[in-house]
Amino acid sequence: MSEFLKMIKKQRESSKNEKFEGTFIEYLEMIKKDPEKVKLAHKRLYETICDFGVETVDVDSSNYRDIFNGDKIRTYEYFKEEFFGMEAVINKLMRFLKSAAHKGEESRQVLLLMGPVGAGKSALTEHIKRSLDGQRYYHLEGDPQRGEPLQLIPRSLRNDMEEMLGVKIEGDLSPIARWELLNKYKGKYENYKVVESTFSQRGRRGIAVVPPMDANSQDVSVLIGTEDISKLDRYSEDDPRVLSLNGAFNVGNRGIVEFVEVFKNEIEFLHTMLTATQEKRVPAPGKHDMVFFDGVILAHCNESEWNRFKSEHTNEAILDRVVKINVPYVLELDQEMRIYQKMIQRSDFNKAHIAPHALKVASMFSVMSRLKPSNKCDLLTKMKIYNGDAIIEKGRVKKVDIKDLKDEARHEGMEGISTRFIMKSLDSALSDSEKEMITPINVIDSLTRQVKEQIIDEEAKNRYLEILGKIIREEYLKILENEIAKAFITAYEEQAQSLFDSYLDNAEAYTTKTRFKDKITREERSPDEKFMKSIEEMIGVVGSARDGFRSDVTAYMFSKMRRGETVDYKSYGPLREAVEQYLITSVKDISRIVTKSKSRDDDQKKRYSEMLETLIVEYGYNEHSAEEILTYAANNLWRDS
Ligand SMILES: Nc1ncnc2c1ncn2[C@@H]1O[C@H](COP(=O)(O)OP(=O)(O)OP(=O)(O)O)[C@@H](O)[C@H]1O
Ligand SMILES: [Mg+2]
Repeated sequence: MSEFLKMIKKQRESSKNEKFEGTFIEYLEMIKKDPEKVKLAHKRLYETICDFGVETVDVDSSNYRDIFNGDKIRTYEYFKEEFFGMEAVINKLMRFLKSAAHKGEESRQVLLLMGPVGAGKSALTEHIKRSLDGQRYYHLEGDPQRGEPLQLIPRSLRNDMEEMLGVKIEGDLSPIARWELLNKYKGKYENYKVVESTFSQRGRRGIAVVPPMDANSQDVSVLIGTEDISKLDRYSEDDPRVLSLNGAFNVGNRGIVEFVEVFKNEIEFLHTMLTATQEKRVPAPGKHDMVFFDGVILAHCNESEWNRFKSEHTNEAILDRVVKINVPYVLELDQEMRIYQKMIQRSDFNKAHIAPHALKVASMFSVMSRLKPSNKCDLLTKMKIYNGDAIIEKGRVKKVDIKDLKDEARHEGMEGISTRFIMKSLDSALSDSEKEMITPINVIDSLTRQVKEQIIDEEAKNRYLEILGKIIREEYLKILENEIAKAFITAYEEQAQSLFDSYLDNAEAYTTKTRFKDKITREERSPDEKFMKSIEEMIGVVGSARDGFRSDVTAYMFSKMRRGETVDYKSYGPLREAVEQYLITSVKDISRIVTKSKSRDDDQKKRYSEMLETLIVEYGYNEHSAEEILTYAANNLWRDS
């Protein structure tokens, strides 16, 4: 047998693997054994997502604390590798589904995701729908609405049956199932055939999408199905057999109905949505009775559409049925970077070289474009605080409360540069580069070009150009200068660690007024004032501040050690900064001379090639990107020399 044919057959066998088929009685027996099989749509969706795994983040022990201001937060495995920095949105969404699953008022509401372009509304909706794809559910055979079989049970028997089965029974048969029952099964519902299907968006089973439609082409049949005109001469108008129940609410019954850019539709069109939520029923075409609907209604829109819709007095009834969740842009630098890592990995550029900091400068731009200025700190500092970075000032971790910053900028994240804008700029930087690479330098260039070409609003344009040309450029030059200097230091980490160790020995001896044993000479000695000063001045700790700094460091480290935590040079932000600056300063001159000079002597050549090697092997550059940043450094750094 052909290899292909084998594969095809094997796949067909496995996908068939015994789906349930049986009479209603057999179905009842099965439900009695496992009542969990019966679920309304919200519950099914909620549980499906939770089944992937849920974790409650310990907000006290992580920097989540700052970011979420102490709110309890859960992370859902299902979203973890797809969405970044959206924990708050996802938590709200899951809270909605959870209450709806418990048949709270939410199960009769539309979930609306509202946010700026490219904030991930569509992607989030797609991902939610995908969770259902392939899940199984039971329904009446031949029923276009794929209704819950328990709806066969007449009202008079429902209470007893509910008790026997341990489930709640909700809703009524579709007109077509009812016709089948009366005519084909002669009312004997115990014989009605029950089958099992999988949810499938492409197969239009349990997942339906309603695209936005203009007023002319808009037709409620998209939502509720039609009457099949060709059958009207065979059957009477009120015979259910003329119905084609293939509208979104029919198809999406038991699962999800998505409304793409919902408020682009005319209001008349949306009234069906209203009855669907309020009464859990939607109209049927023609003269037929309403049909039952149980499903999650997920809609999305952007802010201007929302504002326009909200301002119309006549829309109140619908507004009352909407639970709106804002989907703002990401304001955390590290999370924003992950978005582009993901997007590039999944694009045709996934083999391209991404030089260090390239995605960082791009993300700095998008995040800063979204931030509102504050008079508590500058934009760059605000970005770092939002990212949970420690801001060191005069030897202390600067305490600007993230909550204060967020309080004064309530609407933050709803405008600014979109993810798509950044992606386009990265793509264009990649396609323009002959070496198939992006570096911070060509990213900043490409972003600047795009801003000039695409941003129409003069004020925004100037603000963006200043962020790129001034704030980001200067910050990048700092990063670059440090990185090059670091690359000149052989065994950087060890050197930093050993400086840290001796500083700690000295500071402890100084604070406790004792002598300590020199690690190398094994001799008793008193603390080396000159050495400590040279480290401290790196972060502006001078004069009377020294004593405090030394005892702070000592106390901090010892309390960490007591708790059994490891202590290294990275443990305490201010000291780490001081140690690193000390090292970097010690090689600044040589790194400038060697990098800038056109003719190097033998020793300089050696140091240069070692530095290059470090950049490539340890820091992630390749030959071309290393060359590009070194040239850039030579031309832009150390101007005064
Ligand atoms: N926080 C995020 N995490 C991961 N990916 C994201 C995030 N925000 C946006 N994206 C990605 O950005 C791209 C654009 O998002 P999407 O199309 O979902 O935006 P949208 O909100 O629907 O915008 P529009 O209003 O223009 O339709 C998607 O590929 C999405 O995966
Ligand atoms: Mg969208």
